[in-house]
Amino acid sequence: MPELKECSGFQYLKDTRFDRRTIQDRHRPFIAEVETFKHYPQAGKVALPRTWQLTEEHLSPLIENRRSVRKYAQEPLSLEHLAFLLWASQGVTGQAGRYLFRSTPSAGALYPVETYLSAHSVAGLAAGLYHFDVQHFALDPLTEGDQAEAVARACLDQSFMAQAPVVFLWTGVFRRAMHKYGNRGVRYILLDAGHICQNMMIAAEAVGCGSCAVAAIYDSEINQLLQIDDEEESILYAAAVGKKLIP
Ligand SMILES: Cc1cc2nc3c(=O)[nH]c(=O)nc-3n(C[C@H](O)[C@H](O)[C@H](O)COP(=O)(O)O)c2cc1C
Repeated sequence: MPELKECSGFQYLKDTRFDRRTIQDRHRPFIAEVETFKHYPQAGKVALPRTWQLTEEHLSPLIENRRSVRKYAQEPLSLEHLAFLLWASQGVTGQAGRYLFRSTPSAGALYPVETYLSAHSVAGLAAGLYHFDVQHFALDPLTEGDQAEAVARACLDQSFMAQAPVVFLWTGVFRRAMHKYGNRGVRYILLDAGHICQNMMIAAEAVGCGSCAVAAIYDSEINQLLQIDDEEESILYAAAVGKKLIP
């Protein structure tokens, strides 16, 4: 068994520590910049509705009641509720100059996390893989046809994921944060993914859905499904979502 200090993950945290005495002299590698938004010009966009109807809910029961849910009602998720979850997790909620601020915080407002969806059963949305276009509040269709089984296989064969009406897939575009923050930027990307998933899960509670965060992933299998260049961008985190079973 290796000692904690011999593990590369621990070494990485040590290497990227800020220290009051050395913060001015720290060396940051040069990493070229990359665009804030991914574009899929070939994809015919699916516009997302902003018409979700929410009954007023207090926050504390949503937090209290959230449990990881791995069994879902047979009914499809509505496009309105899916749009709400996308807005709650990565929607644009403000602007200052060229910065579009979003519903979750991000170091330097760089937003290095991209959202993809595996739609299995969403009313009015063809099954397949989609990219969430934050700027236009729309979905870019990537792969036609239900990929739920393939996504579940790529998440360490967790079969409950194939039953979920939708699976959120969050990737990190490393250069977006590392251009500014160097190696330490990797920490910030992981923190962003946590904020995003948590907002999505609480929003899911508010619309009668259950969700389960998933990090047990065969990374390269999901990256291949999403057709991303995994030298630049890679899967970080996922979450399965569906309407709760009526007890
Ligand atoms: C980073 C992270 C990774 C997780 N990965 C999985 C997973 O791969 N499969 C799964 O069924 N649950 C996964 N979970 C859910 C946890 O098992 C769950 O949050 C934990 O048992 C506590 O239960 P609760 O969420 O109902 O409070 C993950 C949770 C987190 C925060």
